[in-house]
Amino acid sequence: MTALTLSTAGAATLRADAVVVGVAKGARGAKGPVVAAGAEAVDAAFGGKLATVLETLGASGAEGEVTKLPAPSGLKAPLVIAVGLGAAPEKDAGYPAETLRRAAGSAARALAGAKKAAFALPVEAAGDAQAIAEGALLGAYAFTAYQDEGNGKKPLAEVALLGAKPRDKAFKDAAARAVAVAEEMNRARDLVNTPPNDLYPESFAAVATAAGKEHGLKVQVWDEKALVKGGFGGILGVGQGAARGPRLVKVAYTHPEAEKSLALVGKGITYDSGGISLKPAGHNETMKCDMSGAAAVFAAVVATARLGLRVNLTGWLALAENMPSGTATRPGDVLRMYSGKTVEVLNTDAEGRLVLADAIAKASEESPDAIVDVATLTGAMVLALGHRRFGIMANDDEFRTAVHEVAEEAGEDSWPMPLPADLRKGMDSPTADIANMGDRMGGGLVAGLFLKEFVGEGITWAHLDIAGPAFHEGAPFGYTPKGGTGSAVRTLVGLAERAADGDLG
Ligand code: BES
Ligand code: MN
Ligand code: ZN
Repeated sequence: MTALTLSTAGAATLRADAVVVGVAKGARGAKGPVVAAGAEAVDAAFGGKLATVLETLGASGAEGEVTKLPAPSGLKAPLVIAVGLGAAPEKDAGYPAETLRRAAGSAARALAGAKKAAFALPVEAAGDAQAIAEGALLGAYAFTAYQDEGNGKKPLAEVALLGAKPRDKAFKDAAARAVAVAEEMNRARDLVNTPPNDLYPESFAAVATAAGKEHGLKVQVWDEKALVKGGFGGILGVGQGAARGPRLVKVAYTHPEAEKSLALVGKGITYDSGGISLKPAGHNETMKCDMSGAAAVFAAVVATARLGLRVNLTGWLALAENMPSGTATRPGDVLRMYSGKTVEVLNTDAEGRLVLADAIAKASEESPDAIVDVATLTGAMVLALGHRRFGIMANDDEFRTAVHEVAEEAGEDSWPMPLPADLRKGMDSPTADIANMGDRMGGGLVAGLFLKEFVGEGITWAHLDIAGPAFHEGAPFGYTPKGGTGSAVRTLVGLAERAADGDLG
């Protein structure tokens, strides 16, 4: 795990393997890039010519750009890394937090193998320090559990944040928040990246129990027997084809002075083969990611506990493996759900909504002020919004807007989506109360409409479909690695913070 320290040392005097500075695009008409605040001492060591050197090397200051320069004498660090920040902000405005987060992430990735790097990026307020720290700790992430000695991959070991005031409470809090959020995002990434032969419902529940206890959470696990006894027909129906049985896990964080309660529900399909409605080749190689919602929920509850937020936060992990076999649910089967409703399973690959429906109905019994579910639910949402943003649906427009705002503040791209009532009739079933499939067009909204039916009367609810951003298959960018991304964790922690402040919407 990468360590974070706040340092008052100057960029020129701190002993480190490298010093990271920011470089912005020059104003329109200006010649080259401009060096950002924080880099003054480094620029001075270059005789005030850092911008000229960077321009000569072809640097423009564009976001994502990383330029490595040998350090001139006068710097303790032997290497300078200049990261692009894009357009310089208007006068008196700082850089957007997400710009700093991504730049720090790009730098940390470029520093894999290094022991210690000083980050001398522009810090005007504690929020800037937080974003830089988060980006650096997230960018340094590597998943090496299944490679000998990490196949030579060694994440940057220590991040020294310059420009942050170590004795100032605002900066100390910002650093603590950054460490908790980034480490928990990295925990979610680890869970997602762990192959499905090792991460299955029982082992996921065991990990959650151990880590939950470590952080003072109350953990309760329903095994198959308990699920049968409780009547969780949705979770059981999805899990019954697999050799490894399903689980429901409840992780509860409580604060003695909490005034608001929030329930988070995560889709935890540890592997989605599609079941009897088997996915074709080409669609199942990445389906270990289908528990990303449960991973995000668990990580967010632990982060909230680490931060001691004044809120009661309960996470529900709906865990099952969706496999085809002689015991699997058949298309045409009818399940009796936890809520008592019956569902005709027309397509066993629409399994996420079945496990979520049971967990949402169960969570509703505790009458939380709001429920938010998170799921890699539909390919349709990926078609609609692409790979870098999740869709937000809700039974309350104000709450949907609030969730969107929180996501924006957290630096997570998302977009509000509707739940049009006309799509409901596509799920009418001649046999059961509802079918688990409806119109193909608008499939992401159809899935949302299905879930809505299992939310307890009068409870505010939002649904995040993270099928796009949960798992990254392209080249790494900013602080986003290949594989599990930790999508939605920051938004969920942001919601817990809002609830703690009493303004959930
Ligand atoms: N886990 C998938 C959705 C998914 C697709 C997640 C791509 C991540 C990337 C989900 O269980 C699924 O298979 N959904 C079906 C629903 C359909 C059968 C109604 C889909 O989207 O095709
Ligand atoms: Mn599926
Ligand atoms: Zn799925």
